[in-house]
Amino acid sequence: MTHHGHEYKLDKGIIIVSQTDEKGKIIYANEDFCKISKFTKDELIGKAHNIVRHKDMPKEAFEDMWQTIKRGEVWNGVVKNQAKDGGYYWVNATVYPTDEKGQMRYFSVRVKPTQEEIEKAKKAYALL
Ligand SMILES: Cc1cc2nc3c(=O)[nH]c(=O)nc-3n(C[C@H](O)[C@H](O)[C@H](O)COP(=O)(O)O)c2cc1C
Repeated sequence: MTHHGHEYKLDKGIIIVSQTDEKGKIIYANEDFCKISKFTKDELIGKAHNIVRHKDMPKEAFEDMWQTIKRGEVWNGVVKNQAKDGGYYWVNATVYPTDEKGQMRYFSVRVKPTQEEIEKAKKAYALL
């Protein structure tokens, strides 16, 4: 069975967490991240975070994210992600910059977006 184009809806209590280095290379991924993305921890750790990038996501969204977090500010947005099996899932993502002894690290926490947030993001991204 193929899951191509299938939308996975996040369960309410799910919290997808990852941590990256200053370039966006994944250095930590939690169980919920693996569960929804269908990647194992081994497949995620050490990879660039664009491993879950969906082709419908405009590059402007990530430019805004990177500009914001590099300034040391928190970024929040609704993101469409690609699962390993060809399915996809929407998340409400918050990315936090942290300075660990002079080394920048980024934390991402993603929860279930509302249907309204998804519709709004779809419209905004379609205009870009
Ligand atoms: C902490 C953190 C979490 C990220 N999470 C995602 C994500 O869930 N999905 C995604 O497509 N990009 C995510 N990114 C952005 C990617 O690093 C990358 O910029 C984006 O996928 C665009 O790919 P590109 O840089 O190859 O164009 C995240 C970046 C950081 C720093």
